[in-house]
Amino acid sequence: MNNIQACLFDLDGVIVDTAIYHYKAWKRLANELGFDFTEEQNELLKGVSRVRSLEIILGLGGITKTDAEKEELATRKNDWYVDMITRMKPNEVLPGAREFVQSCRDAGLKTALGSASKNSMTILEKIGMVNLFDVIIDGNKVTKAKPDPEVFLNGAKELGIDPANCVVFEDAIAGVEAAINGGMKVVGIGSPQVLVGANLVVKGLGEMSVERLQAL
Ligand code: BG6
Ligand code: MG
Repeated sequence: MNNIQACLFDLDGVIVDTAIYHYKAWKRLANELGFDFTEEQNELLKGVSRVRSLEIILGLGGITKTDAEKEELATRKNDWYVDMITRMKPNEVLPGAREFVQSCRDAGLKTALGSASKNSMTILEKIGMVNLFDVIIDGNKVTKAKPDPEVFLNGAKELGIDPANCVVFEDAIAGVEAAINGGMKVVGIGSPQVLVGANLVVKGLGEMSVERLQAL
């Protein structure tokens, strides 16, 4: 039996499905720059920081920009994205996610958010989940992107829990690797073919229970 004392959750793709909003905003930007951006290409951006996402998109379009121009483009995309997420409603939480986080807390486990997104607080406020996390580490609090474990190690540290006693929930392979690099257990959300290395892979938090954590 393991000794899980804390659960750390990624946000986008685990608690909420914001990929569609990111996609719409990036597509609009790509279209303004004169090329298209497909939903398959959007998969490349899962778990990837805003600046890195922009660089990938510019690469797809074969476009070179200065750092100042990149800054302006990333801001433009983010303004459109924020416009969409500020209209999010509590019913956009993925099935079973709110209930599972709550059941972890009811069982006496600590909970933390570990997300690359600088918009995490806005989303948590809109879906009414701010109070379900003891600690929130978002893109404003980290300097190194996943697969670097910084975001999760900071979460464990703020919770006061040893990384070996933490489990991370992640939908991106970079996030699964970040958890492993931090010496934590990890439950993948998505496909076992993609999320290689996870201790367990499920389709969504609706499949999880506190009991299942014991078998990790
Ligand atoms: C991650 C998403 O959670 O956050 C990425 O999976 C996104 O797609 C990244 O690029 C950064 O988000 P934001 O909100 O800071 O632009
Ligand atoms: Mg994610």
